[in-house]
Amino acid sequence: MWPSPTSWNWNSVDIGPHRDIVGELKTEFAKTDIHFGLYFSQYEWFHPYYLQSNSTLYSDVVSYPQMLEIVNRYEPDVIWSDGDWDQTDEYWKSKEFLAWLYNESPIKDNVVVNDRWGHGIMGQHGGFLTYSDHYDPGHLLPRKWENCLTLDVNAWGHRRAMQASDVRTTKDLITQLVRTISCGGNMLLNFGPDKFGNINPIFEERLSELGKWVNANGEAIFGSQPWVYQNDTNDVWYTSKLRQPLNSISDYVVFNRQFKDNTLIYAFLLKISSDRMIKLPSVGYTDKLKVTVLSTRSNLKVTKQKQGIAVDLSHLKIADEALVLKIEYAATVTNVNPIKRLQKMGSLDGAGHPTKNSKKIIDMYL
Ligand SMILES: *[C@@H]1O[C@H](CO)[C@@H](O)[C@H](O)[C@H]1NC(C)=O
Ligand SMILES: *[C@@H]1O[C@H](CO)[C@@H](O)[C@H](O)[C@H]1NC(C)=O
Repeated sequence: MWPSPTSWNWNSVDIGPHRDIVGELKTEFAKTDIHFGLYFSQYEWFHPYYLQSNSTLYSDVVSYPQMLEIVNRYEPDVIWSDGDWDQTDEYWKSKEFLAWLYNESPIKDNVVVNDRWGHGIMGQHGGFLTYSDHYDPGHLLPRKWENCLTLDVNAWGHRRAMQASDVRTTKDLITQLVRTISCGGNMLLNFGPDKFGNINPIFEERLSELGKWVNANGEAIFGSQPWVYQNDTNDVWYTSKLRQPLNSISDYVVFNRQFKDNTLIYAFLLKISSDRMIKLPSVGYTDKLKVTVLSTRSNLKVTKQKQGIAVDLSHLKIADEALVLKIEYAATVTNVNPIKRLQKMGSLDGAGHPTKNSKKIIDMYL
């Protein structure tokens, strides 16, 4: 997709559209506040050099030089390498590349990378950890992770045979986003343009619907952190913010603790029961407690429960999308550390890596 000298006569400038597609995208992204990232497939499975067994010719003269090219030419903020499975990090020269990237490259101070740098590296080493496609642990992780998923449930690329029922619903996208950010993850949403560079109108519609919901509830999403509790049920998830940053962050970097006056809690309600009373057992009642609908700022009536609170939504018109509540002045919580709790339960090991029984990849299609 760029005029690579290591892919002479087999790139988008020499053949096909005769355009530097990566360069044109870079120029357009520079006009926005969106960070510019590049996906790089280490593999070119049918390249004659790659097919030469017991030789590193392909990585010597193709993939490794191309990684240097994309950094020097386009200075991306994110590099999403795709090179797990069949070859080792040694084959790809990942260590050499990453050492150069972070010590000497023109983007050494800002670049962010993922974890697919060779067989067995995924989930172990990297800037953010992807673990697998569609990774959705359902619990907090101590390191930044990513749920990468597709709009077309059957493909990462353009598929001419795609049907409307193959495309994730807006509600499913919101559900994935909420589950992900509550547990400290980042959501990567893929869709494949066609060979003309067009985006299928059904993708465009889903993206603008998701965008509408995200913009209406941005305060609970952008710049938020996981809370001390991640969810009350499969339909109630939390994020949080602090009014004032703390002086000491120590081991509480990946989630915010609950301080009555300082912590803002956001509750995402994915499903609301027909009696329109929602129970939030994790939220401690106080006399000052304030619960509002985030998008409209309307105040809600709260009653104290044996455990937590109940919020009365009976007067609200409930849309299909998730309703987001903003909760202020809930009771202080001391001595609860979700990471330590998950380690005790055996979902995380001592180093904070998810254990085998924690890897709940919940996906309704794949
Ligand atoms: C490549 O190496 C493997 C294992 O060392 C060996 O079994 C195989 O015959 C080699 N292939 C070639 C084409 O030399
Ligand atoms: C939170 O969500 C996870 C994953 O969906 C689920 O296993 C767990 O039971 C939920 N926690 C509570 C308290 O319901």
